[in-house]
Amino acid sequence: MRLHVVNHPLVSHKLTVLRDEHTDSPTFRRLTDELVTLLAYEATREVRVEPVDITTPVGPTTGVRLAAPKPMVVPILRAGLGMLDGMMRLLPTAEVGFLGMVRNEETLAASTYAERLPEDLSGRQCYVLDPMLATGGTLAAAIQFLTHRGADDITAICLLAAPEGVENLEAGLKDLDVPVTVVTAALDEMLNDKGYIVPGLGDAGDRLYG
Ligand code: PRP
Repeated sequence: MRLHVVNHPLVSHKLTVLRDEHTDSPTFRRLTDELVTLLAYEATREVRVEPVDITTPVGPTTGVRLAAPKPMVVPILRAGLGMLDGMMRLLPTAEVGFLGMVRNEETLAASTYAERLPEDLSGRQCYVLDPMLATGGTLAAAIQFLTHRGADDITAICLLAAPEGVENLEAGLKDLDVPVTVVTAALDEMLNDKGYIVPGLGDAGDRLYG
């Protein structure tokens, strides 16, 4: 698994405002949207393209276009939904599938309550959207789900990640024969005993939609 922490002053600036407990929901939603577009630029660095011949007003040339099959964007409900528009701004022709997952706040175990994805994801690049990589349980389950359906390349975009979660995810995916990349705006200090990222930004779902 590859971890890519996006080191950019604009990302750090927007993330700082996002973390602030005084930031209200409308501002939180707007900043999430902007931040995801910046992260998506890095996350799509290896999106598959194919050559295409075009003609400019001056003459013929060869460029690239997104290769088939289309990439699949998978927001994890609920909080991942707040990241969808920011992602689709960069990949407007991508297909979107949904995974509804919730973490039990006592056991911290993740469970899936809804899914709307093609049965066959063979040969598809998938972009998973989830703001928080805390224990890593949710993302590990989402990645297993997608690879069982045939996805052969997975990139997760998270606003924040905890070192414990990254370690758990790495251990959980060690036998997986599919490349996995996690792109995040920051690797925070730790998880607290309630499974919250510290310093984090609180409960992303509640701050977006609560
Ligand atoms: C939060 C968050 C992630 C998950 C991360 O979702 O949005 O999906 O927890 O935790 P983990 O890495 O320890 O599994 P939550 O279960 O609160 O659901 P919500 O998005 O509906 O608020």
